Amino acid sequence: MNNRNALPEDFRWGVATSSYQIEGSVAEDGRGPSIWDDFCRVPGAIDNGDTGDIACDSYRRWPQDLDLLKQLGVNSYRFSVAWPRVQPTGQGPVNTAGLDYYDRLVDDLLAAGIHPFTTLYHWDLPSALQQTGGWAARETAALFADYSALVAARLGDRVTDWATLNEPFCSAWIGHLEGRMAPGMRDLRSAVHASYHLLLGHGLAVQAVRAAAPRTPSLGIVLNLNPCEPATESAADALAAERADGHTNRWWLDPLHGRGFPTDMVELYGIELPTRPEDRDTIAAPLDFLGVNYYFRMKVAADAKVATLGFSQVPVEGAQTTALGWEVYPQGLEDTLMRLTKEYEVAALYVTENGSAWHDEPDANGYVADHERAAYLLDHVDAMANAAAQGAPMRGYFAWALMDNFEWNYGFWPRFGLAYVDYQTQARTLKLSAGTYRQLVAEHRDRASTETQRTKL
Ligand code: FCB
Repeated sequence: MNNRNALPEDFRWGVATSSYQIEGSVAEDGRGPSIWDDFCRVPGAIDNGDTGDIACDSYRRWPQDLDLLKQLGVNSYRFSVAWPRVQPTGQGPVNTAGLDYYDRLVDDLLAAGIHPFTTLYHWDLPSALQQTGGWAARETAALFADYSALVAARLGDRVTDWATLNEPFCSAWIGHLEGRMAPGMRDLRSAVHASYHLLLGHGLAVQAVRAAAPRTPSLGIVLNLNPCEPATESAADALAAERADGHTNRWWLDPLHGRGFPTDMVELYGIELPTRPEDRDTIAAPLDFLGVNYYFRMKVAADAKVATLGFSQVPVEGAQTTALGWEVYPQGLEDTLMRLTKEYEVAALYVTENGSAWHDEPDANGYVADHERAAYLLDHVDAMANAAAQGAPMRGYFAWALMDNFEWNYGFWPRFGLAYVDYQTQARTLKLSAGTYRQLVAEHRDRASTETQRTKL
């Protein structure tokens, strides 16, 4: 027995992608360079020296990808708009040819009966803005709001679902502190300032989209959240887990919910925040939903070798792990959704990303029998349904990803797709897990239409 009937009739079932990870065509139609184009040129930054120059060539092969969506039978598609296509230098007038691409994409989706779910920023900051300080500079937050208004003015007569940022955790901490993602910095002050300005940019964009969109938007932000548990019962590990939770979850959730930045973390970072009094309310702008990207749980231990933070993630003994070494732990999704429901009283929740990378082996016909991915998908959907049955306001679920794509600093080797991509030919082939997902979506649709008929009788 599962709790899937606890999901509402109009539940959004979708798949997700992001611009830099799939589009390619990095110089087409006036697109400017982004910090990811630059980071991919840094020797050793990306496994195998891979880049997003071509990626899945989706900018040119969009009709094929639309076809995949139709075959999957999903009712929603989460994609992101590349800021450097819309404003090649991050400010100034719209580059019409760039925005036209998304305009057509939205029309095509709607014609196919698929809801567009648009992310405004999935990490591809125009390079020109990095030269003026990037997210560590306050000005970038205001420019992000300007850009968001331009997109909302053009697409907002048809798009109603908008996420401002995808995973500011990664932009701030992985990009500015750990240096494993663009812009590749290792500087605590820049990282803390970037985190602050990302949240400020989110709040300003919320105002800008509400003002510019012709149709009333449903607006939210997408966070990657991980339950953090102590590795042992020691007091040191308990403190480590509390800090990991602060760094990963509370640093974002608290200010977004009007609670301000968590004081234990402000003290730990020891960096003065670039605060202005009016920012607190801007950052806490009421949202229509929260988007959760869930991949794994974190077991955490005290670690004096890690500067400032003093903790590190440790492997979970005996756990099943994906090709990236991430623990498979569906319960963590249920726990996360329940925490948001109880502790933060979130009004509406989407799982905006969830998925797994495996060592996919195509057979002679290019078919991948990815039983692990199918099981992962079902187990996580059921964990989400369990949360819904306990009162979590679930509105949608997006599997990551529609197809294999450029997995950031890992390049192309980790495959997350429901469709296999042969990067030599760019052929896409739906994997076994795509069939599993198609069936799950169809079952929900059939159940929902039976319920509707019943209410009518
Ligand atoms: C998330 C990112 C997404 C994808 C998945 C695997 O952190 O938002 O772009 O790379 O991880």
